[in-house]
Amino acid sequence: ESHAAVDDLMSRMTLEERIGQLNLLAAGEGLLTGARQPSLLSRRLEAGQVGAIFGTKSLATARAMQERALAGSRLGIPLFFAEDVIHGHRTVFPLNIALACSWDMELIEQTAGFAAAEAAAEGLHQVYAPMIDISRDARWGRVAEGPGEDPLLAARIAAAMVRGFQGPGLGHPGRVAACLKHFVAYGAPQSGRDYDNASLAWEDLLETYLPPFAAGLEAGAASLMVGFNAVNRLPMHANGPLIQGWLRGRQGFDGLVVSDYTGVRELVSHGLGPAAVSVARALHAGVDMDMVGEDYLRELPALARDGLQAPEAGISLAAPQIAQLVDSACRRVLDFKARLGLLDDPFRGLKGTARAPSRQDGRKLARQAAARSAVLLKNDGLLPLARDARVALVGPFAADRSNMLGTWSVAGRAEDVVPLNEAVAALTGRAPALAWGANIVDEPWLERRLNVHGVTVTRDPRPEAELLAEAVAMAAAADVVITALGEAKEHAGESSSRLSPDLPAPQRRLLAALAATGKPVLVVVFAGRPLAIGEVAGQADALLYAWHGGVAGPEGVADLIFGAAQPAGRLAVSLPAHPGEVPLSHASDPTGRPFPGGFAKFRTGWLDLPDDAPRFPFGFGLGYGRVHYAAPGLSHDAAHAGQAVQLRITLKNTGPHPAIETVQLYAGDPVARVTRPARKLIDFAQVALAPGESREVAFQVTADQFRYPLAPSLEDAEWLRDPGLIQLHVGPNSRDTQMVELTWLD
Ligand code: IFM
Repeated sequence: ESHAAVDDLMSRMTLEERIGQLNLLAAGEGLLTGARQPSLLSRRLEAGQVGAIFGTKSLATARAMQERALAGSRLGIPLFFAEDVIHGHRTVFPLNIALACSWDMELIEQTAGFAAAEAAAEGLHQVYAPMIDISRDARWGRVAEGPGEDPLLAARIAAAMVRGFQGPGLGHPGRVAACLKHFVAYGAPQSGRDYDNASLAWEDLLETYLPPFAAGLEAGAASLMVGFNAVNRLPMHANGPLIQGWLRGRQGFDGLVVSDYTGVRELVSHGLGPAAVSVARALHAGVDMDMVGEDYLRELPALARDGLQAPEAGISLAAPQIAQLVDSACRRVLDFKARLGLLDDPFRGLKGTARAPSRQDGRKLARQAAARSAVLLKNDGLLPLARDARVALVGPFAADRSNMLGTWSVAGRAEDVVPLNEAVAALTGRAPALAWGANIVDEPWLERRLNVHGVTVTRDPRPEAELLAEAVAMAAAADVVITALGEAKEHAGESSSRLSPDLPAPQRRLLAALAATGKPVLVVVFAGRPLAIGEVAGQADALLYAWHGGVAGPEGVADLIFGAAQPAGRLAVSLPAHPGEVPLSHASDPTGRPFPGGFAKFRTGWLDLPDDAPRFPFGFGLGYGRVHYAAPGLSHDAAHAGQAVQLRITLKNTGPHPAIETVQLYAGDPVARVTRPARKLIDFAQVALAPGESREVAFQVTADQFRYPLAPSLEDAEWLRDPGLIQLHVGPNSRDTQMVELTWLD
């Protein structure tokens, strides 16, 4: 798409001005006001050396920066403003991993739409979201921000979020540009360590990690951010085959590509060459804007004048080629500004005329989203609780506010959170007995590290024995114990990988002490990742996995506990029994062991994990209804490709409570050219069922759903499909399914 205003600007810009547009800076603090020395950012703005800014935090700051930029830029080119709006803005919704567990695309779209409206009212034009990194490794802290382990679910979420952010179009009031991130396989780092590299088969990349990006692009995402990681030894900031080849070439993406924070400079540490070489490689690979590091600004003038000969790094570019690359990148930045409407009106979105949506509406949506995102994993008849039950509420998260917001809640405020004790009191009309019970962690060094980012780990200084005794005494006087356990918000998120993704030891000791009282125990887990909770599940009478549920997280939890809302969450990630089990996915490939009829000892698995399975499988979650699945039926047992096949199944709610059921369809291809997963999610549908109600759910099954890639290299990838038998598994989760078989005749 070409804009006349962009052509006009391009024809008048100097090389330096073009390079200035590629510089993407953080707002930082006190940059325009209060500082005696003009800050670096002020100087850059006055010299026309900034294309965009992120992290302004207020409309007034953004407007002041825009004024400064317009005054400083000879041609009056406006900035655009961005921010990390990951799971809500001022109204913080549940973590993305939690929202993914709702499997409810309308709800997810609505949360993104609401966040867009709040962000736009604050003068933001672009959000660094959706984060759509598939992750199967609970050690990685950024699991919290993503859509979980499955590419189909993630692809639908990517599209829903892009629709929510961008609405009918970029220049539309109350909408912002989406930025898909982190391209690509950032969620598959070695050993779950953040920023580490991914080594994987091209087939895995094509079938697992790229589909959410393809779906986000298809939905019209206007921009994309590359990841810090390398993929198969080539860092993403220099990854021409993936950016120029797959993204721009195969997918035809002509939107904006931004680096991650200092990602261009980090190519030096990756060993790709000194700063000038790294800059040339990033620009050549297709990275348009350089975030924070300013290496484009520093290196590109000389590169465009002298060219670059770096055979040792495999790159040689003549000066005009580099100038040409600068032009293309600059044009994409300007096109983006034109699409945002900024070239027509540099103060678009900055005039303060756009009203933020009502905070009350936001809270309502956040509460509904929290209730829809929590996953009921176990219920031995304890829930829902009667409102007049005498409740002891115990644990370090029982009265917590700030951790409920979860990671990446930059505009959220802890004081907006109603903590669980208050939420329970408001709903039942009686304040629960409250005890701290145990500290979140007991390693002082870890606590110090968690506190680096902000004070989230508050502790009770009394000896643990005293805390436990108090909790046990309180439990003894109650009808039921609600135990609020989990992770601090800084336990998960960026640079927060954990060696052992389980419930920290002091909290496990608390639970053991409470379980020993013989009182019924409900465990509510507030966490940013799928924790290994094998032991916990054994000790609880009921277990609700509530994640970090955002500004109304505890209220959503209270609604579920007392039956004001129906549990409907289904795991978007497998929950391990033991931390050593990760990475973990329902769609892993089969192996040859145990050999049928062979020795049981020789099997794929662990000696010290008796049941070789996740503790709770992908897709799992209970409701208060009892839903019966009749036998599934196929319209055809055999079909030609191109023929429509229908799978139908009837569900009946035989319990006394309403239910929201997520019917999941998995497929296995038992004979193929290569090993295929025994079960891969190919579709799902959500139905609401009143008590006693029956409904039929129909899935269209098409041959295209069974394509898989073979890729000796990325460039030579082919998507194939074989004729023959397919096994279709349908049910309430990835484990408890019924099978029907279908044969493709060609
Ligand atoms: O958008 C983020 C990214 O996810 C991690 N690095 C910093 C960026 C900007 O805040």
